[in-house]
Amino acid sequence: MRRDEGLSLSIRGLSYALRDRSRTMRQILDNVDLSVREGEFVSVVGPSGCGKSTLLNFISHLLPVQQGELEVLGAPVQAFNTKVGYVFQQHALLPWRTVIENTELGLEVKGEGREERRARCREVLAQMGLAGFEDHYPSEISGGMRQRVSLARTLVAEPEFILMDEPFGALDAQTKVLIQEIFLKYWEQHRRSVLFVTHDLGEAIALSDRVVVMSARPGRIIADHVIDLPRPRNGERLRSNPRFIEYHDLLWSALRDEAANAMQVAQ
Ligand SMILES: Nc1ncnc2c1ncn2[C@@H]1O[C@H](COP(=O)(O)OP(=O)(O)OP(=O)(O)O)[C@@H](O)[C@H]1O
Ligand SMILES: [Mg+2]
Repeated sequence: MRRDEGLSLSIRGLSYALRDRSRTMRQILDNVDLSVREGEFVSVVGPSGCGKSTLLNFISHLLPVQQGELEVLGAPVQAFNTKVGYVFQQHALLPWRTVIENTELGLEVKGEGREERRARCREVLAQMGLAGFEDHYPSEISGGMRQRVSLARTLVAEPEFILMDEPFGALDAQTKVLIQEIFLKYWEQHRRSVLFVTHDLGEAIALSDRVVVMSARPGRIIADHVIDLPRPRNGERLRSNPRFIEYHDLLWSALRDEAANAMQVAQ
């Protein structure tokens, strides 16, 4: 029996401190409470260094919980979960594998037959605008293309819950808009649970059902706003919607002081 029926993610009181190189204890996360319902798209925005990637690393079991409770897909996180997909902040492709070989990694681990997994990978790569690059190595394609391969690799494995860490941050402005549209369409068709980290408030509003704002380090949740805009959405058209602009102002006012604080903390 699930403790949190209908929740893909439930975090209560998650705190994290580490000893840095000068042996000083640094508080990274402070009493974070966060949940994501099944099929919900939630974005996390917050200043650089506030602990967003760290939070995703806890959810994906790359870091063991020190303090607090964390349940993913209805169970405490005890091991790496193949139902959870993770698009890292850096693309993390294997340099010795071609584009298609990187893309099929998750399906290979699941034991899917070669022909079937290749066909599915080709389809998703084509959706990402990468048809014709299947046999290239990561070093032979651009940074933005590598990021798209990374996205394809995650989506093709059909995870129930997708963690995404600034997946479009390295893309040029035009490619970014196109890939956001592709991803939005994919999401509106499949409705997977998503926790999406971004610096881009416009991107967060365009994609999400909810946007949460984190404070400067130590990261806490300081705002949580439902984005009540109709779907299906067209990201470009949405940006001229007056409600989009209101949400942008609301989130920016929550974030502005934190961004300034983060710069002081870093100095
Ligand atoms: N191994 C480590 N040793 C010391 N400090 C660390 C270590 N890993 C992370 N940190 C610190 O933890 C904090 C949070 O890092 P994290 O990468 O989660 O931030 P972030 O919000 O993802 O930032 P960005 O938006 O720049 O990606 C930072 O202040 C960072 O300096
Ligand atoms: Mg990060």
